[in-house]
Amino acid sequence: MQHRERKPFPADFLWGAASAAYQVEGAWDADGKGPSVWDIFTREPGRTFQGSNGEVAVDHYHRFEEDVALMAEMGLKAYRFSVSWPRIFPTGRGAPNEAGLAFYERLIDALRAHGIEPVLTLYHWDLPQALQDEYGGWESRRIIADFEHYCVTLFQRFGGKVKWWVSLNEQNYNLTNAYQLGTHPPAVQDRKRFFAANHVAFLANATVIAAFRRHVPDGHIGPSFAYSPAYPASCDPAELLAFENAEEFTNHWWLGTYCFGRYPRGTLAWLRETGEAPEIMPGDEAILRAGTPDFVGINYYQTLTYTTNALDGVTMQRINTTGEKGTTPSSGVPGLYRTLPNPRVETTNWDWAIDPVGLRIGLRRLSSRYALPILITENGLGEFDTLTEDERVHDDYRIDYLRRHIEACRDGISDGVQLLGYCAWSFTDILSWLNGYQKRYGFVYVDRDEHDPRDLRRVRKDSFYWYRRVIASGGVDL
Ligand code: BG6
Repeated sequence: MQHRERKPFPADFLWGAASAAYQVEGAWDADGKGPSVWDIFTREPGRTFQGSNGEVAVDHYHRFEEDVALMAEMGLKAYRFSVSWPRIFPTGRGAPNEAGLAFYERLIDALRAHGIEPVLTLYHWDLPQALQDEYGGWESRRIIADFEHYCVTLFQRFGGKVKWWVSLNEQNYNLTNAYQLGTHPPAVQDRKRFFAANHVAFLANATVIAAFRRHVPDGHIGPSFAYSPAYPASCDPAELLAFENAEEFTNHWWLGTYCFGRYPRGTLAWLRETGEAPEIMPGDEAILRAGTPDFVGINYYQTLTYTTNALDGVTMQRINTTGEKGTTPSSGVPGLYRTLPNPRVETTNWDWAIDPVGLRIGLRRLSSRYALPILITENGLGEFDTLTEDERVHDDYRIDYLRRHIEACRDGISDGVQLLGYCAWSFTDILSWLNGYQKRYGFVYVDRDEHDPRDLRRVRKDSFYWYRRVIASGGVDL
């Protein structure tokens, strides 16, 4: 579609930036916080890039006022952050830790004092270790009640001040890593257990959305989904079928279940054939149907291109975590699909396709199929950055990436997508779970590396000033 005149961004568009507790807060055991699965996992040798962890991260816990002042200077309209469950419930349940709640209250109040809309993520992967030890975390239905109790505690405490909520962050990506690739805790490689844990997570997600309606009736809630729209490698019908398989299994398996409250039938039939389907108990579908979201949150980084994969073909492979370009292997599910590099698009040093048109395509696919508003909860470029002697970071490559993706948002809006906002990933530099501190995403550079937290000084990158102009002009001055 080529429009003679594109629509502008809406006046109330949420121009934002995002983060997650484990990736920024540090203070891993401060003020009564319990250990999360990531606190424990990162201590095991070989799990993360050069053994990096979030014990200090970028020390946002102690420096949030400075960070919020930078957000205000930038003119941010929204800030997406996550609450660390073990900061609120050190052992996952029981009585809340007031010091943990008070930290988030101070953060929320500081944001609101600057007119910045808080977007609160309930779960961004830092499960209390106690629940993993006690009943296997997401593998047990017992987590549903504990997660609901934790979420309702936050709804009651912050529901009057926070109107935008994200339920689970990237259930698809996190659990794929945790139960298929073995690269996130609890580092299991078992597809049957993967689909079982994933089913429990769906039930937990729907349960808290239903609870949200009772506690925050004027708020909005939805999951954040890691959306990599699928492309066929060619117009060969066999490759188109592989692409359809990938789009169904890697995207609509989750989105369809969230939005319609039932599993896509074809996908479920295939999993029953392979013996990997989750156990769906009486009443489960009613729970799913009662907890559908107000919006679809998407974390968009790249498209993936697919070809056919034989029944004895390649299996899931771990991603590039070093930044050595060209080291990502083909990854897939035998009998369904496998990935290929797309020769038509450039890639980052971590081999992620840079594809703004893919964002527009993805927005349209979801908008047409699910007829819900969409909030971009993450989009950004992870790259090496250089701090110059005169304290600058000339990240023109990041500006270029963001500019082209924001253009794609405007195209999507012109195509009829109801886009609520755009949260760039990330505000400050963060710990990238498996890639350490060298894969940087922020508008604000933080002076530290994998081994040395140094002084954690904040330095505005060129992209900081650029995004400030974008926001001030309502997306006109790109
Ligand atoms: C998403 C996560 O997967 O993408 C973020 O929600 C993460 O937490 C981001 O940092 C970028 O991924 P990575 O692996 O480059 O840090």
